[in-house]
Amino acid sequence: MAFSGAEKEGKEVKIYENLDDLKIDLAEYVAELSEAAVKERGTFSVALSGGSLIGLMGELRHPPYIETLDWALWHIFWADERVVPKNHPDSNYKLAKDNLLPKVLVLPSQMHSINDSLSAKEASEGYEFLIRQLVKTRLVGVSETSDCPKFDLILLGMGSDGHVASLFPNHSVLDNTEDWVTYVTDSPKPPPERITFTMPVINAAANVVVVAIGSSKADAVHLAIDDVGHECPSLPAKMVKPTNGKLTWFLDKLAASKLDSCAHKSE
Ligand code: 6PG
Repeated sequence: MAFSGAEKEGKEVKIYENLDDLKIDLAEYVAELSEAAVKERGTFSVALSGGSLIGLMGELRHPPYIETLDWALWHIFWADERVVPKNHPDSNYKLAKDNLLPKVLVLPSQMHSINDSLSAKEASEGYEFLIRQLVKTRLVGVSETSDCPKFDLILLGMGSDGHVASLFPNHSVLDNTEDWVTYVTDSPKPPPERITFTMPVINAAANVVVVAIGSSKADAVHLAIDDVGHECPSLPAKMVKPTNGKLTWFLDKLAASKLDSCAHKSE
């Protein structure tokens, strides 16, 4: 059973009694966005993160989605990536390739990942260059209000400290509003070297989904979603506010347990 808060200012919060319902609804949501983008632009540009998110999207590998999704028109990016070889167990590319993207339906040319032979700095610069080329060809859209790319969908997990992608609280990486992609070499969550979309790129997306499950996320969910005045204004998850897009939270009841607004808990 899902409780869904009224959509307000382009934001919706969906709360699920059990993970199976969350997984089914998340797959359906992604499938609808894919269908709409393909109808409108002939392609679907989607950026993934790492962590539990990929397992929670697993329904997409099963019927009906395995057959009905326009996999051939998907272009897959990573909102953040660990700077490790692509065959390393920590690689977000490997995680998605092995556990989400059906091998015969998604070709290597549709997976736009970092050059793993470079340093974090060089890999972030190279990744931004790659995205700039794909914006020029309109494979990735462009924001109406900034020079940022406009991904059809950016999927994020959230850490218990409120980080999203590899944008960590109280880290200078949050101040970078110039670049599309940047890097960290001291990530509090291992491994230390990562590249990440910057906040302006996340907020330029047509759709952003944040998925958080488990009680360890409850405090950060509360700070990010509830109107708690000036508390933690620079909590990365709270800074996710798509300018012209829609933000949708998918939460289980444990992650939602500290939300204080009843609006989030009623139809
Ligand atoms: C990464 C991430 C990171 C992740 C969160 C949540 O580490 O690669 O992209 O932002 O999504 O840390 O991870 P969990 O859902 O596993 O807690």
